[in-house]
Amino acid sequence: MEEHTSKGFEAHYGMKPEAVYFAPGRVNLIGEHTDYNGGYVFPCALTVGTYMAVRPREDRQIRLYSDNFPDRGTVIVDLDRLVYDTADDWANYPKGMLAVLAEAGWGGAHGFDAFVHGNIPNGAGLSSSASIELVTGAAWKDLHGLDIDMLELVRLAQKAENEFIGVNCGIMDQFAIGMGRRDAAMLLDCATLDYSYAPVELREKKLVIANTNKRRGLADSKYNERREECEQALQEIQKTKDIQHLCELTLEEWEEAEKQLSDDTQLRRARHAVTENARTIEAQKLLSRGDLEGFGQLMNASHVSLRDDYEVTGEHLDALAEAAWAQEGVIGSRMTGAGFGGCTVSLVEKKGLDDTLDAIAAAYQKASGIKPDFYIVGIGDGAKRIK
Ligand code: GLA
Repeated sequence: MEEHTSKGFEAHYGMKPEAVYFAPGRVNLIGEHTDYNGGYVFPCALTVGTYMAVRPREDRQIRLYSDNFPDRGTVIVDLDRLVYDTADDWANYPKGMLAVLAEAGWGGAHGFDAFVHGNIPNGAGLSSSASIELVTGAAWKDLHGLDIDMLELVRLAQKAENEFIGVNCGIMDQFAIGMGRRDAAMLLDCATLDYSYAPVELREKKLVIANTNKRRGLADSKYNERREECEQALQEIQKTKDIQHLCELTLEEWEEAEKQLSDDTQLRRARHAVTENARTIEAQKLLSRGDLEGFGQLMNASHVSLRDDYEVTGEHLDALAEAAWAQEGVIGSRMTGAGFGGCTVSLVEKKGLDDTLDAIAAAYQKASGIKPDFYIVGIGDGAKRIK
């Protein structure tokens, strides 16, 4: 991939690149829709991601080309005029990142030419957008020798997504992509940004991502709706309890707090946030003890809560999870990411893996009429220079 991207740069711009950068995609093992509720998430970075070959320019132009979107051609922008433009499509992500960097005082004197190649399945909910933001951030920092740490880049990438792109996401995706570490998941407390790495030792099991191949329709509007519902539930609970976030509530405290909620929708949204947070803390403990069966059960419970209480799964994700649950070789399976289409993540026995996946594919296709895709993923490092 690195070579593909370097060669692509040379063919496109007629010169060799000076450096190549990589930022991964991410998968969340458990802890869904908890980040903006001040709770825990447990994601890892993937070995697939976005590659960016770069060469500095002497003027203040940025040229962006991706062979994933050849029809878009080369997007040429001026560093002093970074504004969102629908016509620029994917190139708005690097533009947004550069805009927030400049705004935060991390501008640079000159621009660059970039060739971008990604191997994250598009629209699958594995955070290709955050990956483009962070690969741009890593390149910019390095090109200009900026003394900016990864956590700051992570925060700025989230800001780019919130303010430039207009998606009101939490910090999980950018964090996982910036801070990822090979063969480890990260337990992140989204209220404090305290985090720790947890080795993912799966022994005779594999992590499998399955794509419903149903694009995430309505995802942004429904996502914002869920955030508002949680916000309303929080305001109700705050009338009697001094908390900043829903996920501050323990399961015991929830029993009291839920009495405050007369609106059934608010109650279910908040219950998901509180119980999912408890599952996430528990899941990390089980994984560290090597209890993969227990971990798998929590994955299943997470899906059920996202389906019944949070209502973000939808028929395709439900059909795919159910197809997986019916297989003996599946230890656990759940939707991952925002929901409303996209992917599931499953823990599957290596023994008989092909047969298990064939059976899941057949059952899902029967239910939905769509053929799923499977990715047997590796857990990789966060954003960095690779050449
Ligand atoms: C999307 C958002 C994240 C997080 C997840 C749900 O991926 O970008 O911040 O809220 O959905 O867990």
